[in-house]
Amino acid sequence: MESLPILLLLCVAVCSAYPLDGAARGEDTSMDLVQQYLENYYNLAKDVKQFVRRKDSGPVVKKIQEMQKFLGLEVTGKLDSHTLEVIRKPRCGVPDVGYFQTFPGMPKWRKTQLTYRIVNYTTDLPRDAVDSAFEKALKAWEEVTPLTFSRIYEGDADIMISFAVGEHGDFFPFDGPGKVLAHAYPPGPGIYGDAHFDDDEQWTKDTTGTNLFLVAAHELGHSLGLFHSADPEAVMYPLYKSFTDLAQFRLSQDDVNGIQSLYGPPPASSDDTLVPTESVPPGPETPAMCDPSLSFDAVSTLRGEVLFFKDRHFWRKSFRTLETEFHLITSFWPSLPSGLDAAYEVASKDTVFIFKGNQFWGIRGGEVQAGYPRGIHTLGFPPTVKKIDAAISDKEKKKTYFFVEDKYWRFDEKRQSMEPGFPKQIAEDFPGVDSKVDAVFEAFGFFYFFNGSSQLEFDPNAKKVTHILKSNSWFNC
Ligand SMILES: *[C@@H]1O[C@H](CO)[C@@H](O)[C@H](O)[C@H]1NC(C)=O
Ligand SMILES: *[C@@H]1O[C@H](CO)[C@@H](O)[C@H](O)[C@H]1NC(C)=O
Ligand SMILES: [Zn+2]
Ligand SMILES: [Zn+2]
Repeated sequence: MESLPILLLLCVAVCSAYPLDGAARGEDTSMDLVQQYLENYYNLAKDVKQFVRRKDSGPVVKKIQEMQKFLGLEVTGKLDSHTLEVIRKPRCGVPDVGYFQTFPGMPKWRKTQLTYRIVNYTTDLPRDAVDSAFEKALKAWEEVTPLTFSRIYEGDADIMISFAVGEHGDFFPFDGPGKVLAHAYPPGPGIYGDAHFDDDEQWTKDTTGTNLFLVAAHELGHSLGLFHSADPEAVMYPLYKSFTDLAQFRLSQDDVNGIQSLYGPPPASSDDTLVPTESVPPGPETPAMCDPSLSFDAVSTLRGEVLFFKDRHFWRKSFRTLETEFHLITSFWPSLPSGLDAAYEVASKDTVFIFKGNQFWGIRGGEVQAGYPRGIHTLGFPPTVKKIDAAISDKEKKKTYFFVEDKYWRFDEKRQSMEPGFPKQIAEDFPGVDSKVDAVFEAFGFFYFFNGSSQLEFDPNAKKVTHILKSNSWFNC
């Protein structure tokens, strides 16, 4: 069978729940462990024997450096205590480096409607808990791709999921409790795409044993064609992570980038205008941060950072690290919609208010607050106002400005009520900002108004526009 070597390289998707050896870690054990680790996951030739003792052994130092780099450790080339500690951590058994990465065309499914079948069950959990772990794991991938998964109950599915112990009909027998947890095969016919779970593990819904959902999310990533990521935040990072709070689970932007590089983003959401099937426009492209025509839906500060919202995503710019991250809105706040209208921060309440249509939400850090969404009319807008274009809260004056077409309203944060005498013309009090605005936020004492791809820097004290910038000027393009 010609494909066997590929299978051997790719498919030992082993997530060891526990270190190889908990006790009696003499130096020799450490060295064997390191040797084995580099052989298994970093392609160290098996004939480079006892390298660790030859401290100057060039190829080995290179391998250690490669491993430290991949795992996000300090690259010393030495087996310091932190490196040894990481080597003992539970991990997935798919190599971090492998020849497969040079194969032309990574394996992927050539269709988007995939089937899965849960062939049999573990007795550790009720069946519905097993069903929901796999459903949730597949859903995480489904949400960010055009892929759909439908469950079948008999016959051959693309992804066959089973629990087995010991020898179970492929070349990778399971090994009892610990070490090998599961393995999965990359996309393809027959056994490819399948995921096997070692039923000698104690599978649990929480993290007291081995959490089935977490292992399933990682293994099903392999079933869809993803390999390991060097990003420690990624579900596809090779070290098994046990979250203390499963509610915090989400795909990282790196996982999303990886899977979208194979399958692209999901199609446009169904609330878009219906168009005949023949002329369905392609799904929304992931927006490019340096596109000179880039515009934003909403911009807000959040605890000293700035969030730039665009469709389903946002950029998060930190003035402290000067880094810009890119995320799905739902990966932080699953209940928020895409295509937001406005957002502003009330720093004294540590809350960002997010607007879409006639509703708004209060978020604090990563959490949508209870009691939302609320209707915008509870803030005192007349029924004629159907949506807000942009909003900003002046923390000195404790006033919030709401921009709606060519007018604005002012809300008193202390009295929690809309001020009388509004709306007023934007042009009257913000000379130079004379049209509808997409977004606005405050930084360094200036208000930054966004209009399509252009941005106006406005000095609220001098009441004048001081600069005209590109909207994406914050991204160091
Ligand atoms: C479940 O199915 C797999 C694949 O057919 C098989 O190898 C395994 O023995 C089965 N496990 C149980 C507990 O029946
Ligand atoms: C906003 O953009 C529109 C269209 O590009 C333009 O006509 C208008 O003058 C702009 N307004 C401001 C304040 O720059
Ligand atoms: Zn893996
Ligand atoms: Zn197997």
